[in-house]
Amino acid sequence: MFSALPDSVSICEVSPRDGLQNQPVIVSLDKKLELIDALVASGLRRIEATSFVSPKWIPQLADADALAKALMARAASKTVQFSALCPNEQGVERASRAGVTEIAVFMSATESHTQKNTNRSTAEAFAIFAELVPAAMKRGMRVRAYVSTVWGCPYEGEVKPAVAIAIAKQLIDYGCYQVSLGDTIGVGTPKQTKEIVERAIGEIGAEKLALHLHDTRGTALANALVGLELGVRGFDASVGGMGGCPYAPGAAGNLATEDLVYMLHGMGISTGIDLEKLIVAGRVASRVVESALPGKVHQAGLPRVM
Ligand code: HMG
Ligand code: MG
Repeated sequence: MFSALPDSVSICEVSPRDGLQNQPVIVSLDKKLELIDALVASGLRRIEATSFVSPKWIPQLADADALAKALMARAASKTVQFSALCPNEQGVERASRAGVTEIAVFMSATESHTQKNTNRSTAEAFAIFAELVPAAMKRGMRVRAYVSTVWGCPYEGEVKPAVAIAIAKQLIDYGCYQVSLGDTIGVGTPKQTKEIVERAIGEIGAEKLALHLHDTRGTALANALVGLELGVRGFDASVGGMGGCPYAPGAAGNLATEDLVYMLHGMGISTGIDLEKLIVAGRVASRVVESALPGKVHQAGLPRVM
């Protein structure tokens, strides 16, 4: 174990999107910007800021156009890659008008979750993304992809890795620069993660992979460690452990960014992030959503000698 650890890994912060989409409160635009500014100040350089999805489906992110315009006007947009989810051409059009240069498309490993989350079948999703991804790239956008429910589906239960990875590979073949494999409801365990990641590396390549691990059952960090050991260098995380998917019942927050950074720095792996400042950003997150957050380092802080 720990035979081939990297010098650094890349973290994509998803709290402004995945974190806020599942909150019972609607956070104001100013407070969202305050959170994103605090994340930027911690050194994060990839931030998924919002979603250009239907406001009827995700009212929490209905201000995506104004938020993205405000972000792209900030000096930080020169050094931070802000991105946003887009489910369809209407979303890409909105992202383009706001000046967003990176989008993420998403679908699930299972028919039922794709249907519940986006009101379309797997075949319809493929048909949409086969056109949308190259078209967005022609507009000069980078396109990332998510495959959800890879470790298990709230509607179908067990998921075959071969099926999930075939979907991921198809999204890469459309032109996505990276595919993030999602444990949407946080059911994964390390041996299962090894099987999924080894297959994904074999078929897609480690350099095009990221892991997006919700921490519903406390296994996200262990699964991230398995991915790291196998060669994955991209991880999604959410400050304070905020997050969830309104269309995946039982999904708790993502792997907390502070917990991931604490582990990586402790192993001598750099992230470009200042953990003390990240902890401050976690406090901002808790304040703007008006609730306690589950992240361990968020709660315990850094170790201090008494
Ligand atoms: P639909 O209702 O089938 O859409 O939704 P439609 O094309 O029939 O249009 C219906 C209405 O929505 C129309 O408006 C459209 O204009 C509007 P109306 O005429 O009724 O006033 N509309 C839009 N408005 C703004 N922006 C758009 C847009 N598209 C349509 N882009 C749709 C289909 C895909 C749009 C909908 O199902 C949707 O928005 N779903 C998104 C759900 C979502 O965001 N889920 C959470 C993100 S995924 C996730 O969390 C998992 C992830 O984190 C990874 C993991 O954890 O595994 C990524
Ligand atoms: Mg998610």
